[in-house]
Amino acid sequence: MKKLILSVALLLSALPFLKADEGMWLPSLISQRIGDMQAKGLRLSAEDIYSVNQACLKDAVVLFGGGCTGELVSDRGLLLTNHHCGYSYIQKHSSVEHDYLKDGFWALSQDQELPNPGLTVRFLEKMEDVTALVLKGYKSKMNEDQRQALIRKNAEKLRKEAEKAGNGLRASVEALYYGNQYFLFVFREYRDVRLVGAPPSSIGKFGGETDNWMWPRHTGDFSIFRIYAGKDNMPADYSPENIPYTPKKSLRISLAGVKEGDFTFVYGCPGSTREYIHSAEVDYIANVSDPEKIGIRTTRLQLMKKHMDMSQAVRIQYSSKYAGVANAWKKWQGEEKGIKKMKTVAAKQDFEKRFEQWAAGSEYKGITDRLAALYAARNPVFRAYEYYNETVRSIEKLRMAAGYPMDPKDYYEPIDKEMFVAMMDCFDKSLDDSFKPAYFIQKRKEYGSMEAWRDAVFADEAEANELAFSIDSFYFNVLRPQVFELENSIDLTYRDYMRGQMAFDASKAFYPDANLTLRIAYGHVEGYSPSDAIYYRPVSTLKGIIEKDNPAIFDYNIPQTLRDIYAEGGHDDQPVCFLATNHTTGGNSGSPVLNADGDLVGINFDRVWEGTMSDIVFDPDFCRNISLDVRYILFIIREIGHASYLLDEMHFTSSK
Ligand code: ARG
Ligand code: ASP
Repeated sequence: MKKLILSVALLLSALPFLKADEGMWLPSLISQRIGDMQAKGLRLSAEDIYSVNQACLKDAVVLFGGGCTGELVSDRGLLLTNHHCGYSYIQKHSSVEHDYLKDGFWALSQDQELPNPGLTVRFLEKMEDVTALVLKGYKSKMNEDQRQALIRKNAEKLRKEAEKAGNGLRASVEALYYGNQYFLFVFREYRDVRLVGAPPSSIGKFGGETDNWMWPRHTGDFSIFRIYAGKDNMPADYSPENIPYTPKKSLRISLAGVKEGDFTFVYGCPGSTREYIHSAEVDYIANVSDPEKIGIRTTRLQLMKKHMDMSQAVRIQYSSKYAGVANAWKKWQGEEKGIKKMKTVAAKQDFEKRFEQWAAGSEYKGITDRLAALYAARNPVFRAYEYYNETVRSIEKLRMAAGYPMDPKDYYEPIDKEMFVAMMDCFDKSLDDSFKPAYFIQKRKEYGSMEAWRDAVFADEAEANELAFSIDSFYFNVLRPQVFELENSIDLTYRDYMRGQMAFDASKAFYPDANLTLRIAYGHVEGYSPSDAIYYRPVSTLKGIIEKDNPAIFDYNIPQTLRDIYAEGGHDDQPVCFLATNHTTGGNSGSPVLNADGDLVGINFDRVWEGTMSDIVFDPDFCRNISLDVRYILFIIREIGHASYLLDEMHFTSSK
């Protein structure tokens, strides 16, 4: 027995990838992972997940609206995504008479479904490695500019070729591994996508900013759309004549639910990760960028909150802006803490030392020092660039003066006046004068105080215009070109460093950084221990909603109907959300969470804040994605939406 335990332990230490659920894998190369996935519980084949010859799971997943993911759940084009992904469309249909954000929306028949001009969804038709074609004609004597021009030309040709057949085909050539590999992605884009249903925000956004990035979580973060097509099932502009799209594949919904340990995988479009960066960048993120931006945003949030707490009207005006500022603010806190806890800077420095020892005498020699030098040059400039965005360029008065679109009904001047003083002051004190426009330095002297300057700017449009203009000119004409040039050099160096890392550790499976292309992450349902003596179980229930319910707290004020239903009894165990170890990031919102049979068990919508360093470094002990249990969606559709007819379109299974 002891011997057996020992050999298992040995095996685990020899194959660390068996434990960690890190990775966002390319669907077309999933055959390289399928053995590991099956060993962990998957009961599907690689062709079930990705195939160009037969209908497969990829045909039920879409890039939704250019920044989220959605999935097909009926043969009549019915699509699920998050409430926060559908938010802006629900908002556009809302008015004082029909406040769909507040009250929810349920189309009771197809002709009540609401069109959304501009909203598109993309199905992946195929993806393929086109590295050789993209580099066709490359000669080693070419310089970098010539190489880039060649790549652009070849990629453009491939794109045109792939889109030739029309019918909504959209193609793009994407660089993976910093341009060591190129993939062609061919999509079919549908552009008549209608809103079918959304719960009231008190369910779809339950917990608001308070619970955002947190566990235990009870947010019913979903909305329902339907894709429409022309009579030939092909993409068409909106028309009342269009018919529901018949997908090649729609997901079966599992009623069996999940429990700790169950295999899950997430099929979706993660936006951006940076897992292979140099220690100097990690150091900058964790010790400069994150803490400074968190500090600035704390000031901004406190200021907004003070006014929002004083007036209901102001709360409505600023809640969306507040959410935007708070979302990254909270994420960065977890990222900073996670990177420090994992000692990632030291770990990367150690790696770089070993890498250089290995690289001595090879083409990779000295890369890590070159990167360190590039970051030494970039960081001060980039820091100033970030300060512009976080401080002076966030002042609404100056944004309006610079001509950025803003809805005047969402503007409250007293907030902005206080913001002006706080942000101008922060900008002034934090940056060296060499990073400020001459106009700024001169006016600061003239006015003597930010308050006096504020009074002038808010009284005189010309003053506002001039300040806004000088800030934007410096930002766009001086800072940005420098940042772009430095980042370009850094990325080019990463092309070699990435290849070097892959050669150095040839037995390791590398996944390309996320870039909004379709990926698969797999793991299992699991809780976590955020700190000593606490263990978070991975499944939350309706009971927890009732525990949080409080009519006096906006974020926790549930609809009366939900209270009444709960009072009837029998709903304590109604599952709401669950945690898993799938490696996800922004863009994965709305992604289907599938079980071992590929049936839908949940919709991904968030991560826990203690694990948000997963964009840079993945910690299997803390990185958890948060999903909405699909059975809560069904419950809300039935009990709150009274829209059970939607369930008639869906296919269910209760097998495990
Ligand atoms: N944190 C999630 C994500 O990054 C959800 C954001 C929307 N919800 C919110 N309460 N702000 O997108
Ligand atoms: N909430 C994110 C999204 O909207 C997901 C995440 O960052 O985990 O895509």
